[in-house]
Amino acid sequence: MTKKRRRRLRFRLPQVQSGTSTTVKKKKRRRRFRLRKEAYLVLAGIAAVLCLIFIPRAIDNNNLKKLGYDKETIKAIREQKLTKTILSNEWYSNYLAQSIKNETLNTDYTELYTVVTSQRGLTDRDFLLYNRLKDKGYTDKQLLNLYRNLRYVDLTPLLVFDYQGDESGYISDCQANMSNNDETAFVLDGTYYTPYENARPVDDTASVSMLVNKTYFLDDTYTPKNLTALSNLYAAPDRELAGIAAEALAEWANAGRDNDVYFYATSAYRSYEDQQALYDSYVASLGQEQTDQVSARAGFSEHQTGFTVDLAATHEDAYSEFSQTRAYRWASAHCWEYGWLLRYPENKDAITGYEFESWHFRYVGKDVSEAVHYSNLTFDEFYMLYLKPWDNENNKPSQEILDSTNYLKLIPAAAEEPQETSAPEAGSDSEPAETADSSASPEATEKAN
Ligand code: DAL
Ligand code: ZN
Repeated sequence: MTKKRRRRLRFRLPQVQSGTSTTVKKKKRRRRFRLRKEAYLVLAGIAAVLCLIFIPRAIDNNNLKKLGYDKETIKAIREQKLTKTILSNEWYSNYLAQSIKNETLNTDYTELYTVVTSQRGLTDRDFLLYNRLKDKGYTDKQLLNLYRNLRYVDLTPLLVFDYQGDESGYISDCQANMSNNDETAFVLDGTYYTPYENARPVDDTASVSMLVNKTYFLDDTYTPKNLTALSNLYAAPDRELAGIAAEALAEWANAGRDNDVYFYATSAYRSYEDQQALYDSYVASLGQEQTDQVSARAGFSEHQTGFTVDLAATHEDAYSEFSQTRAYRWASAHCWEYGWLLRYPENKDAITGYEFESWHFRYVGKDVSEAVHYSNLTFDEFYMLYLKPWDNENNKPSQEILDSTNYLKLIPAAAEEPQETSAPEAGSDSEPAETADSSASPEATEKAN
């Protein structure tokens, strides 16, 4: 090898060697750079995802805060997945916030929680009533207005009244009378009921708890099954009731006797024709307007059901004097224990459509009579709330609400135990007790109302 060539080789070799190490370094640098770039991209991606999650969340939280919700409630709103609904509707009320925090909110009625105060609150019976009123034709907007302004006790009569296209007059009337109205008395200045105008046939004529009033009627062919003559021990002569009511009258009257209280049915089953004649005779003496306050038109009387009696303290007493008697006090205080109801109570004529009738009692069966007693509703309201078939099944509340508001749940356990038959309500000891009169007076004529 020539000197020149060796020099060239020497010159080249280090060149080759140094060239390889630079490429490796470059490659390493490039790889490192690529790795770093990838890491940056991953980090940037993570950051973007976190931003996508947390920024809208922070914005939502801020908006919820602006609506009035505190930190704890905002957390509960998130957990209950209510953020979107609440923010899109801008819903807030103390009661709504409280219900979300307590996890008691029924989300089928979220907006309703925005119009009532914590003091009023909402229970399952309010929800059932809401759906019943909806079934009657009220819109959600009307219902919000009604619930915003009125109590449960002011709302239940609406089930019986005509549909109010403009609910504002009713609200004003209830508000004007609110300090006097409660579960025991309900008086209004206006009338919200047009008797007989929206008349419809009784829902189920086979049911002992059928509703017959100025809306629901029986046709002229209806006669009760199993009409049974009443014993003179409990009734004036020739009075009849449906068998089950005849037995229930005996049970009730015997319990009265155990307490030295005596009462008799002066009127019981009345046929369509009997009622027609009676109503007409009232019209002849009182005129139609006054008659409609005290006597039912034919087809619209509970007496036609065979489940109704007018009571007096003796066979000969006028039924209209019954309210003055110890028998009335005992019978009205205990009737529900035997399946009976005082059907037209005092200060409820705005709802029942009739003046107070101390003598008129209706058999509805024990479960229903006990539940009506504890509900503090008139039977008209009770039926419309708990018993009526739905006009539109779509208006039914959830099964959960239907189950929790089953009317049997109104009856406290104590009510299912045997009742004390002593009756302190029946009057003071100094009052003379009516004496038993087991012999029917043959002259006794039907005193009816
Ligand atoms: N007095 C009641 C309302 C009737 O006639 O049935
Ligand atoms: Zn009557």
